Amino acid sequence: IETVVFENSSTASKSVAKEIAGLIRAKQDKGESCVLGLATGSTPKGLYAELVKMHKEEGLSFKNVITFNLDEYYPMKPDSVNSYVRFMKELLLDQVDILPENYHIPDGTLSKKEIADYCKNYEAKIEALGGIDLQILGIGGNGHIGFNESGSLQNSKTRLVALDHITRVAASKDFSGLSNTPRTAITLGVKKIMEAKRVILMAWGEGKSNIIKTSVEESITNQVPASFLQEHNNAVFVIDKAAASKLT
Ligand code: F6R
Repeated sequence: IETVVFENSSTASKSVAKEIAGLIRAKQDKGESCVLGLATGSTPKGLYAELVKMHKEEGLSFKNVITFNLDEYYPMKPDSVNSYVRFMKELLLDQVDILPENYHIPDGTLSKKEIADYCKNYEAKIEALGGIDLQILGIGGNGHIGFNESGSLQNSKTRLVALDHITRVAASKDFSGLSNTPRTAITLGVKKIMEAKRVILMAWGEGKSNIIKTSVEESITNQVPASFLQEHNNAVFVIDKAAASKLT
């Protein structure tokens, strides 16, 4: 798998933003829509800031952009401080000219009975648009992508999952303690991620260096879902020097 190492997360985020803007514009020129798969968490914050800047300063339009977020905690109200709906609206969606009907974030308010159909429909919408053109990913300390935790299968579908303890510990700082941290989430499955035409996984900092090495250099295993990307024909790990520090 290709790894591209940048001096820091800011230059890396700028480069990813440029690629996304180029794709959006190329699709615009052809009168096509651009289907983006988006992640939340701390990693893509700089990328979204850069895209907002390009919208405000260079007139980059999102009118032809359709987005699907990877995941949402379950249960989760959209207006809750820690909801991924709120995160996406504040950092990107409300700051650009994307049409409200064109963004999709898994619904954390469904009843348990509704989830399976909802997840099927989420995938059907992606398929009807011809799949994801470009998928942005972060990576969990355990190698999760989306909330596909260790043990997720390569052909896993969009579904309700139990969050790993380590994922909940990482999230607990936002939820003021582990006991308030959700135990479950809805995540896009590995299969749809693998079907994306282009995948960009981003990671910053020393804290991610071990899992980056494992994902890139060790054998493919469902214990480390990011390692599945070794089999993707157009995936890249865009990382900073610190996250690359353990690579041989
Ligand atoms: C978020 C997501 C997760 C995060 C990962 C890294 O939508 O799908 O896989 O990308 O947990 O989180 P940060 O970026 O906060 O280190």
